Amino acid sequence: MDLQRTQAFGGRLLELMTGGALTMMIGIGHRTGLFEAAAAGPATSGRLADRAGLDERYVREWLGAMVTGGILEYRPGPGEYVLPAEHAALLTGATAANVGPAASTLRTLGAVLPAVERCFTEGGGVPYAEYAAVAGDSLGETWRHVYDDHLVDGFLGAVPGLTDRLRSGARVLDLGCGSGHAVNLMAAAFPGSEFFGLDIAPEAIALAEAERERMALRNAEFLVADAELLPTDPGFDVITAFDAIHDQRAPEAVLARVRAALRPGGTFVMVDTNFSSHLERNLDNPHAPLGYAISLMFCVPTTRASGGPALGAVWGRERAMELLAGAGFTEVALLDSPRPQNGIFVGR
Ligand SMILES: C[S@@+](CC[C@H](N)C(=O)[O-])C[C@H]1O[C@@H](n2cnc3c(N)ncnc32)[C@H](O)[C@@H]1O
Repeated sequence: MDLQRTQAFGGRLLELMTGGALTMMIGIGHRTGLFEAAAAGPATSGRLADRAGLDERYVREWLGAMVTGGILEYRPGPGEYVLPAEHAALLTGATAANVGPAASTLRTLGAVLPAVERCFTEGGGVPYAEYAAVAGDSLGETWRHVYDDHLVDGFLGAVPGLTDRLRSGARVLDLGCGSGHAVNLMAAAFPGSEFFGLDIAPEAIALAEAERERMALRNAEFLVADAELLPTDPGFDVITAFDAIHDQRAPEAVLARVRAALRPGGTFVMVDTNFSSHLERNLDNPHAPLGYAISLMFCVPTTRASGGPALGAVWGRERAMELLAGAGFTEVALLDSPRPQNGIFVGR
């Protein structure tokens, strides 16, 4: 046994536990508005607490973790805390660069861990409703910002000819649309096209419909339906699925329906995770540990609960391409996305 290796690993474990604890602290900073308050300028703990409308004692302890964790800086003379602008760029604002929503999501997943741990011994799964009960709509917050920043120019713009087609008028279906933000953004960006959002969860569709009304969109429509029962007559020019295929109960059946529901020359755009299907090829991917962990805490238990094959979030490019080809797409491509954790899979 190499003692130095054990010592080095001990150091690594301390780093990991510190990172876990600081992630929870980042979630608190995001949800209480402390990062936004700190971004307004250097302040003592008392002034920061006032700015955010919080209890100073708790704020001071949080600040201790933030400063020693290298997230905020401390000026002992005036007793002021500083959030550097370079750090604020990744901890504040309604953009996809803000990691606050992701930190909050991990906390939500933590709340469901006892049920996931039970699955290790008993098998089975954890229904999506158990997550929604602790998370409300916050699971979708990260993706809302991703759509705001990247949907039209990034994801859709990367697919050759797609935005021209949407501009000239197309019938578009978004499958597993969740709370519908992507559909509403597309409908606003391409008024000449008609958009349909479909999801099996009625509460998600209610949120989608409410946003559609707020945005006064006439070219978007939402329906509660099961993608497994998608009509097979070719009704759409474009079908999209954002982060919605690997969690399907019957992914192969759904992809076959998608293929059948496309008009000749139609395009399927699937934005999904971008890992390899082979563990050994994910070793250098810095997103892989989080990918597997989120998959274990969410994707696998929710899909197992519905009786599916539980592809998981790390189902991988190779498997994804294989399933697309198996569904009958004659031309399948994987394009780079503006986010390295995602790939844009295109089936024609
Ligand atoms: C991870 S969420 C992604 C939601 C949305 N596309 C987004 O990116 O915000 C996956 C969605 O697929 C929906 N879903 C799962 N199975 C479905 C099915 N068979 N038919 C329709 N929707 C389904 C879920 O209800 C959920 O809203």
